[in-house]
Amino acid sequence: MAVNVTRREHPGEAGFVAERIRDRRTDDSASERRALVAGLLSAPASIAPKYFYDARGVRLFDAICELPEYYPTRTEAAIFARYREDIAAAAGNDREFVDLGAGDCAKAAQWFPFVMPWRYVGVDIAPDALVPALSRLAATYPAIDVCGVLTDFTHGLELGRDLSGDAATFFYPGSSIGNFTPIEAARFLHAIRRHCRRDGSGVLIGVDTKKDRARLEAAYDDAAGVTAAFNRNALAHVNRVLGTRFAPDAFAHVAFYNERDSRIEMHLEARTAQTIVVDGIARTFAAGERIHTENSYKYAPDEFTAMLERAGFAHVQCWQDDAGDFAVYYGA
Ligand code: AVI
Repeated sequence: MAVNVTRREHPGEAGFVAERIRDRRTDDSASERRALVAGLLSAPASIAPKYFYDARGVRLFDAICELPEYYPTRTEAAIFARYREDIAAAAGNDREFVDLGAGDCAKAAQWFPFVMPWRYVGVDIAPDALVPALSRLAATYPAIDVCGVLTDFTHGLELGRDLSGDAATFFYPGSSIGNFTPIEAARFLHAIRRHCRRDGSGVLIGVDTKKDRARLEAAYDDAAGVTAAFNRNALAHVNRVLGTRFAPDAFAHVAFYNERDSRIEMHLEARTAQTIVVDGIARTFAAGERIHTENSYKYAPDEFTAMLERAGFAHVQCWQDDAGDFAVYYGA
């Protein structure tokens, strides 16, 4: 299926899109709307974290990654930079490089000179950043077969038709796996493992670690209020999807470390009692009532190594910064 691209940043982009990008998205809007309504009408209420990421939410998330309190992005980048050669040696050269949640492909592209993939597959749900990035990469690296797949891989990693079947490196940085429950994360790792049929295949993944509560909580409740704006932005997005009339400022940003479950939880807490009509049904939020918007699970290196091994990755290597704030794993 051809992809609708409104932004043309590269003269060859239209032709590139038709030839090299597969659109595997399905129109689930009716069931997603039902799930969103059900979440809001439940007690406790919830909104799936994907509602953070409209255009404004993507910009806010980019700003979060630059915050002094939000250590994961720069710590992962420092681990990659420090151990680039060792990690590349573990992953090997001349593989198919599959970038899960590719975005603008920038993190993956840094690996190209070190792992020299013969094929690059950028996978993302949204074309906006992916399409121009793939077009630029194809121009910069004519020797690499640059392709893209548009799909919501969090619902199932059905990439069989889009991969060559050769040895592949699956790249999943940024601790995005932390936004799955541990059961979903285990399923996801198993799904990656099932695609690793050839020797030389593996997963290169970045995962946040457990650490002291104060640092974790500051990372999700920064002094400048960027994460608060990111959290509230979900309500503005929901208003557009459902036609609801949430006033985002009527909700306080709440983020705390739930030590029992090893996860940061984000919520939106009603500052005063308020009634919102959701799909024709009046839903009253009492003052102090919360809407759960996100979990971000943290894993000790031995826990995550065991998870990779349970998924079938026999040889797991782990690299960390000196403080142990973040971990990068390669499992083969
Ligand atoms: C995308 N994900 C890994 C981020 C995290 O740290 O869980 C999302 C985020 N939420 C608030 N700040 C960042």
